[in-house]
Amino acid sequence: MELRLQKILSQAGVASRRAAEKLIAEGRVTVNGTTVREMGTKADPAANDIRVDGRRIKSAAPLRYILLNKPAGYVTTRSDPRRRPTVIDLLRGVREYVYPVGRLDCDTAGLLLLTNDGELAARLTHPRHGVERTYEARVAGVPDAEAIERLRTGIPLDGRRTLPAEVTLLHRGRGDREALLVMTIREGRNRQVRRMCEAVGRPVRALIRTRIGPISDRRLKPGMWRDLTTAEIRSLYRAAGIVVAKR
Ligand code: URA
Repeated sequence: MELRLQKILSQAGVASRRAAEKLIAEGRVTVNGTTVREMGTKADPAANDIRVDGRRIKSAAPLRYILLNKPAGYVTTRSDPRRRPTVIDLLRGVREYVYPVGRLDCDTAGLLLLTNDGELAARLTHPRHGVERTYEARVAGVPDAEAIERLRTGIPLDGRRTLPAEVTLLHRGRGDREALLVMTIREGRNRQVRRMCEAVGRPVRALIRTRIGPISDRRLKPGMWRDLTTAEIRSLYRAAGIVVAKR
């Protein structure tokens, strides 16, 4: 819900309404990184990153950290112009304005984080922090040792080699007509796992994400979601390189 900035600041206990107006006029308030000086400006404390002197205000809306087991066939976006089902459609009962952290292809299943914590979302998706993601890829045929080594050391995609990955052949099935690979990668390039497997001649038939940094959950059924525990949120902060000040 959008509110006037001075109201948000006063509700968050930063300053009185009058003092908040002064902070705004002095150019000390930013919304999503942009300094705001106009007095009537509105913002959504659940969706926007609002700071005074660079320090994030405690949002009036609670921060939510949701882990969803996305089924294939849902798009990772808040709204789809083509009106396909979205991951938000699966979050019945969540009133906060959460948004997906990164993206899973429509035809990929598995774990997806959604949050209204803008700082954590930005950190987790920034390549510099290299939070690992693990996937199970069912591929056509059985990759030989050389193919697995190429996946591990890096595959040139769009003129740039993928970072070293952990790759294990979990098992082979259907009379060697397919195999299950477990791959842990540190980047989130577009359709990365699919394109890597394609490049070694083993196209992906089904793809599931099973881990995001320290977060995994084998018991969460497809289409279901849950809030992260405090310990999980802490571990994600650590993985994203965010230092939480003791209060
Ligand atoms: N790699 C892919 O190819 N697709 C995804 O959805 C995620 C990683």
